Amino acid sequence: MLTEITEIQNQALQEISQCEKSEQILEIEKKYIGKQGALADILKNIKNLDVEAKKTIGQKANISKHEIQNALINKRRELENKELLEQLKAEKIDVTLPSQKPNNATINALSAIQKQAEEIFEKMGFAIADGPHVESELYNFDSLNFKTHHPARDIQDTFFIDKEANPEHGKLVLRTHTSPVQVRSMLKMGAPLKIIIPGRVYRNEDQDATHEHTFYQIEGLLIDENIGIGHLKAVLEEFLSQLFNTKIETKFRPGYFPFTEPSLELDMSCVFCKKQGCKICKHTGFIELLGCGMVHPNVLKASNIDPNQHQGFAFGMGLDRILMLKHGFASVCDLRANDLRILKQL
Ligand code: FA5
Repeated sequence: MLTEITEIQNQALQEISQCEKSEQILEIEKKYIGKQGALADILKNIKNLDVEAKKTIGQKANISKHEIQNALINKRRELENKELLEQLKAEKIDVTLPSQKPNNATINALSAIQKQAEEIFEKMGFAIADGPHVESELYNFDSLNFKTHHPARDIQDTFFIDKEANPEHGKLVLRTHTSPVQVRSMLKMGAPLKIIIPGRVYRNEDQDATHEHTFYQIEGLLIDENIGIGHLKAVLEEFLSQLFNTKIETKFRPGYFPFTEPSLELDMSCVFCKKQGCKICKHTGFIELLGCGMVHPNVLKASNIDPNQHQGFAFGMGLDRILMLKHGFASVCDLRANDLRILKQL
């Protein structure tokens, strides 16, 4: 039995020394010193030997097992190092390859168009005004000549804030348009006044391609003496021509807003077909763009301005829809969906 153990040991050590791949090591281990390996096979008959022989054979078997184990460990280390070196040699780094571009952040398209619009109006002498997003019914509706039960309030269905408000100012609401800042600014600065009011507004609306519950508007307000609709048309045509970088024509249609009289809807000449008629302008040559009009005397009175001395115009446009038009977006919702493939095109 001792000779057989020595033979197994020699055979194992020879096989280990000739082994060339680290994945073969496990096989050799199983073959010689595994539970069903050659050594275990021999030791199956040890139970039939006397005590002294059991001791001698047992010791010899243990020593052989250790020898084989050590040889396996050394060989595995040697082969793994060799294989790693070969792998590193094969994986040469090509320093001439172009590097990966960093994923730089950019300004959101809505902020960018707001800034562009602000710059155009500033060049025309307009100052920028701001107001609270959580408004009172007084400024969002009442001072703007929305009667309490007038159906016009329903057009701008809003989110009410469940918080105690000044009882004289009605409930708190998320502002549905930038127009409340008209009254706030007139009360603060009086007349004459020439401002734009860019900002976020909120409506309780179902989302679709042209409707969001949260979107951006730019309001314009000019109050002075002897102001007429001609001034309004000139300012908006100049603004749109600069924004779209091409000569824009505009035309008015009658509209309705409680805070302007007369109220108008402004259409601009189609930038895609130059008034020839296309799918985007529904073959009319013009695109519906914004609401505007001459400031209603009741709004001037609510703002402590004498309508007999001063009058002016106001307009309000949706920045999301203008951006949609400028870049040919399918839906205003794309601007807030975090899909970089869309946002990076802008
Ligand atoms: C207003 O909000 C008036 N305050 C505008 C105004 C100001 C008129 C001053 C007269 C004088 P209107 O509800 O039409 O009006 O909204 C103005 C613009 O906001 C629309 O032309 C449209 O471009 C945009 N808009 C309205 N609702 C949404 C919406 N749900 N999602 C995206 N854009 C919208």
